[in-house]
Amino acid sequence: MEDIQRTHTCGGLRIDDLDKEVVLMGWAASVRDHGGCIFINLRDRFGTTQVKADQVVDFSIFESARGVKAEHVLMVRGKVVDRGDNRNPNLPTGDVEVEAWEIQVLNPSKPVPFTITEDVDALEVTRLKYRYLDLRRPPLTRNLVTRARVNRLTRDFLDSEGFLEIETPILMKSTPEGARDFLVPSRVHPGAFYALPQSPQTFKQVLMVAGFDRYYQITRCFRDEDLRADRQPEFTQIDMEVSFATPEMIYRITEGMLASIWKGALDIDVPTPFPRMPYAKAMEKYGSDKPDLRFDLPLTTVTDLFAKSSFKVFSGTIERGGVISAMRAPGADDWSRKNLDGLTRVATDHGAKGLVWVKVRDGDWQGPVAKFLSDKERTTLMERLDAAPGDLVLMVADDAGPARTALGAVRLAVGDRMGLRGAGKWAFTWITEFPMFDWDEEQGRPVATHHPFTSPVDEDLDLLKKDPLKVRARAYDIVLNGVELGGGSIRIHGKATQQRVFEALGIDGETARAKFGFLLDALEYGAPPHGGIALGMDRLVMLITGASSIRDVIAFPKTTSATCLMTDSPSGVDPSQLDELGLKVTDKQE
Ligand code: AMO
Ligand code: AMP
Repeated sequence: MEDIQRTHTCGGLRIDDLDKEVVLMGWAASVRDHGGCIFINLRDRFGTTQVKADQVVDFSIFESARGVKAEHVLMVRGKVVDRGDNRNPNLPTGDVEVEAWEIQVLNPSKPVPFTITEDVDALEVTRLKYRYLDLRRPPLTRNLVTRARVNRLTRDFLDSEGFLEIETPILMKSTPEGARDFLVPSRVHPGAFYALPQSPQTFKQVLMVAGFDRYYQITRCFRDEDLRADRQPEFTQIDMEVSFATPEMIYRITEGMLASIWKGALDIDVPTPFPRMPYAKAMEKYGSDKPDLRFDLPLTTVTDLFAKSSFKVFSGTIERGGVISAMRAPGADDWSRKNLDGLTRVATDHGAKGLVWVKVRDGDWQGPVAKFLSDKERTTLMERLDAAPGDLVLMVADDAGPARTALGAVRLAVGDRMGLRGAGKWAFTWITEFPMFDWDEEQGRPVATHHPFTSPVDEDLDLLKKDPLKVRARAYDIVLNGVELGGGSIRIHGKATQQRVFEALGIDGETARAKFGFLLDALEYGAPPHGGIALGMDRLVMLITGASSIRDVIAFPKTTSATCLMTDSPSGVDPSQLDELGLKVTDKQE
């Protein structure tokens, strides 16, 4: 083995290589015995090449090929020959095959728990337990190759813009990004804990005070929160911060970076600048702060049309100060009852009390509520929605927030049904003018919409005390195809404003000092005005590869219950380790 080296990868051979003597190494993806001839598809991360062991050419080779089983690791030496009539146009190497002279099994494989192919029907738990096998599947291999390329393109771009990559600590103090911290107990200081970073937010701001005017880092963040298809407890951010920044600068840098990633990874020119939309408009028109703008079909507020409606749900909602939000689904008047029930379920799953649907017809409108709609209401509704016979109109009555959120979810389901959310469309948009605070029902106080270091809009500073929920933040999100790709803001760079924001959040001086004293101190030593953004690398790669979950673009992801099935973590620890840390477990999970 020592002096044998592969001459090509399994994805490299072409018709130009005919008659060459080659050495390939890889895994037996399939072994097909055609009587006197055995075909082995040899796979590595670059591709697959067909290997032929022909009894007529060499009986001993035929014998060794017979011993090959799926996923054995092989060394194959042989000659490149033309596949002639049996060329495979679907395979880059499909014009040729290697006629083997020598086949060595470098290491056998046990029978695998699932067949390693493009599409797999194994359960995800099995795939995650045997992640190394799953990663051999071409789609996952491709995702990680793309991810590596995106990493490189990001670094190249930011480097060319004068950014310095600087590492910040993983063992640190809590940074509030709205999730729970993962804590790490200290052995040297019993009873004291580090927190894993939810983001490098505070450190990157301190780096600005230190004079590193353009910082970036491709870094791991940790958040103990409920997981979904686009969330992991540890994930990667492209994190950056810029001194003397304006939102325009951050937009320009981010747009340039994304354009260069799309060009480099997909050879697609994305037009810049990206469109922008204030938060309030996004909520009103799309019922979401991350609207999918691959299609339009906006929501329209039609409250005024129904103040005197004989449909009590509508008039009652309006009396209580609520709104009627409506949208049209063009040409959808033939959707089945089952379909409409499905849409109603989407609405109720998102908090609506129901969904009114009416089929707009020349003569008689159809739908359970149609009979309550007067002729005048019908005509004005059609005008307002720009609807025509053949359309389906969908409406939700509720308080403004919940009504729009629910109909916004219905809008996405309609888009799915109409095939408007397909691959290959890239709808980037900036969402701007976020509110500074959200009201937290549970805690009965405002919480930061972005994070507490975000600067309020200057004109709204006076509202901090009087009417905090009206304060707008100098914060922005970058949204792609209905996914929040990243978020950032211009920061507070003066201690006084920072303290006022902490006050508005109900964080008293003592708590603020204990948690962020270092940042408050730093703000007093010549902190430059600054701002930045962080993009979710996993989400970015998920979108660029068309993967349906971020688990498919992470080499070793965790399940939705935050476990790693391959290594079986989290897991118990040795009692002596707990002793050393001065910890006692009082409530053990079965
Ligand atoms: P934010 O909390 O908005 O901002 O996070 C930035 C981006 O990180 C990604 N992201 C996640 N991806 C996968 N799994 C998760 N659990 C997860 N949580 C967040 C998202 C999100 O848009 N420090 C600020 C940035 C700044 O102000 O500069 C921050 O962390 O794509
Ligand atoms: P009900 O009178 O409750 O049987 O409702 C009649 C229809 O109105 C049903 O199709 C419900 O889904 C719908 N509906 C009920 N409440 C609302 C609401 N708040 N907004 C929109 N549609 C509703």
